[in-house]
Amino acid sequence: MLQIVIWIVKLLENGMRTIELAGTQVPVVGQGTWHMGEDPRQRAQEVAALRQGLDLGLRLIDTAEMYGEGGAETVVGEAIAGRRDEVFLVSKVYPHNASVQGIQAACERSLKRLRCERIDLYLLHWRGRYPLAETIEGFERLREQGKIAAWGVSNFDLDDLQELAAPDCATNQVLYNLEARGIEFDLLPWQQRQCMPLMAYCPLGQAGAMLCEPALSEVAARHGVTSAQVALAWALRQPGVIVIPKAVRPQHLQDNAAAEALRLNEEDLALLDAAFMPPRRKQSLEMV
Ligand SMILES: NC(=O)c1ccc[n+]([C@@H]2O[C@H](COP(=O)([O-])OP(=O)(O)OC[C@H]3O[C@@H](n4cnc5c(N)ncnc54)[C@H](OP(=O)(O)O)[C@@H]3O)[C@@H](O)[C@H]2O)c1
Repeated sequence: MLQIVIWIVKLLENGMRTIELAGTQVPVVGQGTWHMGEDPRQRAQEVAALRQGLDLGLRLIDTAEMYGEGGAETVVGEAIAGRRDEVFLVSKVYPHNASVQGIQAACERSLKRLRCERIDLYLLHWRGRYPLAETIEGFERLREQGKIAAWGVSNFDLDDLQELAAPDCATNQVLYNLEARGIEFDLLPWQQRQCMPLMAYCPLGQAGAMLCEPALSEVAARHGVTSAQVALAWALRQPGVIVIPKAVRPQHLQDNAAAEALRLNEEDLALLDAAFMPPRRKQSLEMV
């Protein structure tokens, strides 16, 4: 009962639907950071964007040691300075660092760049050469030391997750958008059955051709919103999904935060299904 009351209070506080991820309520719309920290001339804008996102309730920030080779984590560190308590921080380790010793050193480097003492959720970026058991041991040691609160994986297909067979794996972060919906056949329903939230990356198709598809524009016009907002609401129609669009432009951040409130109806979904076919058979997991 107390849990339900706390959940409702949190929901009302920032007005955004939340989901339980690694034991914490997080908003279903978060913030991505790929390509941040690559150009020093963009740095101030990127820091401001992440802070604006926090103000809008986009409290989950997704980053990785890979992004800008540490540059994105440095930008995140600056953006969350003095606001660490507001943020649910996700970062990722390179597969070539995912040995017991390697993961320890990689995490410590990330923490330094992030200017904080704990990562809330630390993910294996994709599967590499180290045995999964070794990577899990590395994650567990970091958890015992309090350097991470929870761990998970990224770019794992269903067979990888089944081989992992780890109840402590908090999430699987994968490509999911209207153009890449193969996971609806098997991976997504499996994660839903396991109550393992799925973090959908590139939910806007990296703002490419997908957003110009006429069906998307038509649904957007019906609701008086943008195509990007429809794309986010479409992914969020699935229970257990968190979207992590990356945005620097202030209007984009506002639109992304507002997209959570958009509800698509049967007619909208049928139109989108006709333009972006749902999978009819198993498809290998796509990666970007
Ligand atoms: N685990 C993995 O292997 C993996 C792989 C790829 C990505 N990711 C994560 O997922 C995040 C999202 O993916 P992504 O950054 O590749 O692609 P994305 O979020 O699909 O697209 C980002 C692009 O969309 C634009 N945009 C944002 N909001 C918009 C809006 N409301 N209307 C129109 N355009 C909008 C952004 O422009 P502005 O920036 O100019 O606002 C940017 O150009 C990444 O940043 C990263 O954190 C993880």
